[in-house]
Amino acid sequence: MGKLWGGRFSKSTDKLVEDFHSSISFDKRLYYFDITGSIAHARMLGDTGIIPKQDADLIIKGLKEIITEIENGQVEFDVSAEDIHMNVEVLLTKKIGQVGKKLHTGRSRNDQVALDAKMYLKTEIEILAEMFKELLNTVLDLSSGHLDTVMPGYTHLQRAQPVTFAHHLMAYFQMFSRDLDRLRDCGKRVNILPLGAGALAGTTFPINREQVSEELGFSSITLNSMDSVSDRDYVIEFISCASMAMMHLSRFCEEIIFWSSQEVRFIELDDAYSTGSSIMPQKKNPDVAELIRGKTGRVYGNLMTMLTVMKGIPLAYNKDMQEDKESLFDSIDTLKKCLIVFTPMIATMKINRANMLNAAKGGFTNATDLADYLVKKGLPFRDAHEVSGKLVAYCISISSDLDSIPLEKYKEFSDLIEDDIYEAISVYTCVEKRNVIGGPAPDQVRYSILKGKEYLANN
Ligand code: ARG
Repeated sequence: MGKLWGGRFSKSTDKLVEDFHSSISFDKRLYYFDITGSIAHARMLGDTGIIPKQDADLIIKGLKEIITEIENGQVEFDVSAEDIHMNVEVLLTKKIGQVGKKLHTGRSRNDQVALDAKMYLKTEIEILAEMFKELLNTVLDLSSGHLDTVMPGYTHLQRAQPVTFAHHLMAYFQMFSRDLDRLRDCGKRVNILPLGAGALAGTTFPINREQVSEELGFSSITLNSMDSVSDRDYVIEFISCASMAMMHLSRFCEEIIFWSSQEVRFIELDDAYSTGSSIMPQKKNPDVAELIRGKTGRVYGNLMTMLTVMKGIPLAYNKDMQEDKESLFDSIDTLKKCLIVFTPMIATMKINRANMLNAAKGGFTNATDLADYLVKKGLPFRDAHEVSGKLVAYCISISSDLDSIPLEKYKEFSDLIEDDIYEAISVYTCVEKRNVIGGPAPDQVRYSILKGKEYLANN
């Protein structure tokens, strides 16, 4: 097939080169946005009189038919037509004849590809936002049922202080809501129309960019033609948002893997969200969580790819930038695939309250509260820390916990200790007394759930 740009060439492209630089195998997924963008462009060309109105109408009719044909699986894309933009133009000209050749008036593939990618990303961000809202709702539901499910909170993966399962879950609510905010914020910069920038220096035709922007639902129009065709920071920003979201999912998955280990057994994943071993009959593996943790690396890789691709490119468009699509598509696909399984996986996991409670009771998670108790009786904190530490060492030496030592023994360490100590260091008290805004006390977590519901209602 003759190239759409073939005029100045006397030789045809090497077959290997044709395959090498063709992007149709992956950018065909942009077909809907490419054609919808072209319809708006054609209408504007007709309305401004740049091409005759009846030509614009014919083009629009033809383009609409092409969408249907693609959706019905009747179209075979052609590698020699390079990319989705030229494939559509070839299809159009085949369908409506010479008039089809007028579509590309006042436009370049450089502003066209930026338009397509932005339209696509706008749509995907909305889909992802809905998925995040579903996840956030699930986290809220789960949390509401576990306001007094006491579990150990960890630092250095050593039992630290008691918290509740609801409090632990609501930490992830905060992370995922920031992920949603970041996506939406990124969407604001995606939502700016680049079409009209031409190859790099606009066009001499009296195009109406506002009309196209309005028809395609953009919030504003780019103000520099060179930037419009060479900007890919919205792709990098999106993948960066996706990376951060994957990082949060991955941390949650890591905890799920830990919690479901036989050593800990805080949760049990539903059979539908775990897998067995081909050799070890007893195994129930948290593969889904592990795979999400693993796929995080892929999205980080995409981010590094795009940062590196873009770092040395002079203005304006360069073919290097065609590399943006696979990184972008893969990041979107990966994040979506992970969210699709992650949300029901946590919604269906069984929570083992007794094991959580026992773990909180062991491991001296109330040692800080013992120190605080002494402080409230008048001892300076540093001295109280010392006394509590000695008591912990004593308990370890006799394989006991702080709750089980008799009062006489306590008195040997400090005569400030009275029989109200047992109430003061019960794990329930430890949680309830941490009644500061943002703390694990059930009233505070209830408040954060309320705020979370408000957040979702407004988003
Ligand atoms: N397929 C190209 C891309 O994805 C479209 C723009 C091509 N422009 C050009 N002058 N080669 O970036």
